[in-house]
Amino acid sequence: MAKRKSIYVCQECGHHSPQWLGKCPGCGAWDSLVEEVPVAAPTKNQAARLTPPGLGTDRAPQAEPLSAIDSSQLARIGTGSQELDRVLGGGLVPGALILLAGDPGIGKSTLTMQLMAGVHLDGPVLYISGEESRGQIKSRANRLGADGDKIYLLTANQMDLIEDYIDRIQPKLIVLDSVQTVYDPELTSALGTVSQLRQVATRSMGWAKGRGIPTVLIGHVTKDGSVAGPRVMEHMVDAVLYFEGDRHSQYRILRAFKNRFGASHEIGLFDMTRAGLAEVPNPSAAFLAERPKNAAGSAVTATMEGNRPILLEVQALVASTVFGYPQRKTTGVDNARALMLMAVLEKRLGLALSKEDVYLNVVGGLRIGEPAADLGIALAIVSAFDNRPLPEDVLFLAEVGLTGELRRVSQLSRRLQEAAQMGFRRAVVAAGSRVDDVDIELISCNKLSQAVEKVW
Ligand code: TYD
Ligand code: MG
Repeated sequence: MAKRKSIYVCQECGHHSPQWLGKCPGCGAWDSLVEEVPVAAPTKNQAARLTPPGLGTDRAPQAEPLSAIDSSQLARIGTGSQELDRVLGGGLVPGALILLAGDPGIGKSTLTMQLMAGVHLDGPVLYISGEESRGQIKSRANRLGADGDKIYLLTANQMDLIEDYIDRIQPKLIVLDSVQTVYDPELTSALGTVSQLRQVATRSMGWAKGRGIPTVLIGHVTKDGSVAGPRVMEHMVDAVLYFEGDRHSQYRILRAFKNRFGASHEIGLFDMTRAGLAEVPNPSAAFLAERPKNAAGSAVTATMEGNRPILLEVQALVASTVFGYPQRKTTGVDNARALMLMAVLEKRLGLALSKEDVYLNVVGGLRIGEPAADLGIALAIVSAFDNRPLPEDVLFLAEVGLTGELRRVSQLSRRLQEAAQMGFRRAVVAAGSRVDDVDIELISCNKLSQAVEKVW
């Protein structure tokens, strides 16, 4: 066999180059190219495994009318967790290949062990671990009350052995924990490199698509992003779920980043307890549970997470700058957006923020990703600056423009319904907002300045 020529692959972005370069032409990263031997084209056997049922490898692909295609293959399998079902778009789909990514220690192994215990499937489910001992996994399972005869545990790192074992026990669901700890011996590159990750994804796709076994691949992401890690697999899988949250806070957020079988941006909320992850059925109540009474700098807004409105408390602290340069620190709010709002407050409302440090925080660890929260963020800052608490029963919902004008937000009625259920009586919204059938008094304003006047 002819010797395969090496290539150099950027570990940041996956860019290929025939020779080593100090700087990656793809993403501009320095010293990120690593020598690898390219992946061989799949053999006929492998190709057959890779081909979805109904598409033979030998014959030319056939087009069929949509109506002739059997959609029962998309029947959903309940995971035993409503939050997980929601994020997946209604449950697991046979043959789905799902990437579950998150920081080390966030709870990926815990979530998948609970999935294996709770999933509505008869027959064996297989948990493959390349990083923990049987004893460790067993003790976690005990803690979670995940027992019984249906969960099979395999500790292995080598893809050939893993595939043999899958052939042998024919599992109904597979969890591979984690993609960075298994390897294909065909490739000379090290564990966790881009080539290995791609190969692991390709081979998993083989059993997921070829035999319809839903598969969850666990991937660690590093904070500094120094390893491309599971990102290079994102386009190969059907769904990418991110498990997020502050490791030291109790809440964990499961977010669908991509989902071929459901809405993306759907989230599920969990509470990490001593006995594993508990569902949080009412996130608004959870996030507002510890809201301080009569505190300056606290405002409530509602964001849409996928299909669901969630009420969030934004907190601001404004304190005189000690060292010449004022600090702006945000957690859960986009930094650029916060700076823009502060500039609008300074210019349009004359708020003297240039000698003040401003800190912003979204309580509970959720990130606000939409401009509908602008007004809430701005009012939290004004309230903190004036040291004057906002009325407790008021919700803030509007986008703020650069001239200080307020703009209407989408799905206002749904957000307000959630607020009404949580006991809010009034909402400051942009003029012209229309809602149907909501038991909440609207305070309509054209401008941010008007909102500040009307709310107190
Ligand atoms: P783990 O699932 O091992 O994280 P990952 O697989 O993402 O690296 O869980 C990590 C943390 O969760 C660990 O620090 C301990 C904590 N934990 C609980 O608080 N309760 C539990 O029931 C379990 C199993 C773990
Ligand atoms: Mg783990």
